[in-house]
Amino acid sequence: MTAPKITQLDVDELFDRVLHTEDDTLKLVRDLSYAAGMPDIGVSVQQGKLLQLLVQMSGAKRVLEIGTLGGYSTICLARGTYGEVVSLEYDEQYAKVARSNIKLAKLDQRVNIITGDAGYTMVLLTGSFDFVFIDADKENNALYVDYVINRLSHSGTVIVVDNVVRSGRVFAVPDKLSFIKGLGKRDDIETSAIQTAGRKGWDGFVLLRVK
Ligand code: SAH
Ligand code: DHB
Ligand code: MG
Repeated sequence: MTAPKITQLDVDELFDRVLHTEDDTLKLVRDLSYAAGMPDIGVSVQQGKLLQLLVQMSGAKRVLEIGTLGGYSTICLARGTYGEVVSLEYDEQYAKVARSNIKLAKLDQRVNIITGDAGYTMVLLTGSFDFVFIDADKENNALYVDYVINRLSHSGTVIVVDNVVRSGRVFAVPDKLSFIKGLGKRDDIETSAIQTAGRKGWDGFVLLRVK
């Protein structure tokens, strides 16, 4: 008899269960987002908690997110700070559901969702952010990171870019300098790229700090 095959998903489910990572509010938000027809592409339970912890550990007071979907990661980010969270979302319907989810989580006083193409809406932002989570259209990661570093950051700003690895491959747009190579050419940041295994398969994110 062969032993049953244990998958990355099983391990994540065990962590979620024994650590009680997801509370009833986040569970409901996940279910409501799915019921509203959104794709199941948000952060995993453990990744959401990692985001909360990173925000907490960095002491961030002002947080920016690019790519809201149903607001699951937005809520995680907001739980890591007593300050403000701005989240940029292209899709009006998604933003509507996210706003309702964020109200459900009692975070609507501190979270502002701005609709439109982030390439345009980010230009309307003023001041600097302490923590930035980039999780929208991956082709534009280089553009978003450049703009955030050049215009919306200060020394010490932390940036997390999701899905720089997808299905075991470094995400790259053909005929463009890969996002990762671009980061390696900058001397104004400290960068670490981390591969992950779990609910989202063989994935990965970049963590960077503005010098
Ligand atoms: N951060 C979310 C998941 C985001 S999924 C979570 O973990 O819960 C990616 C989101 O980015 C989608 O909602 C999509 O509509 C949005 N998006 C894609 N391109 C965009 C753009 N150019 N500007 C703003 N949002 C965009
Ligand atoms: C997709 C987007 C994500 O942000 C993610 O974490 C996984 C998948 C997608 O667009 O397929
Ligand atoms: Mg993602």
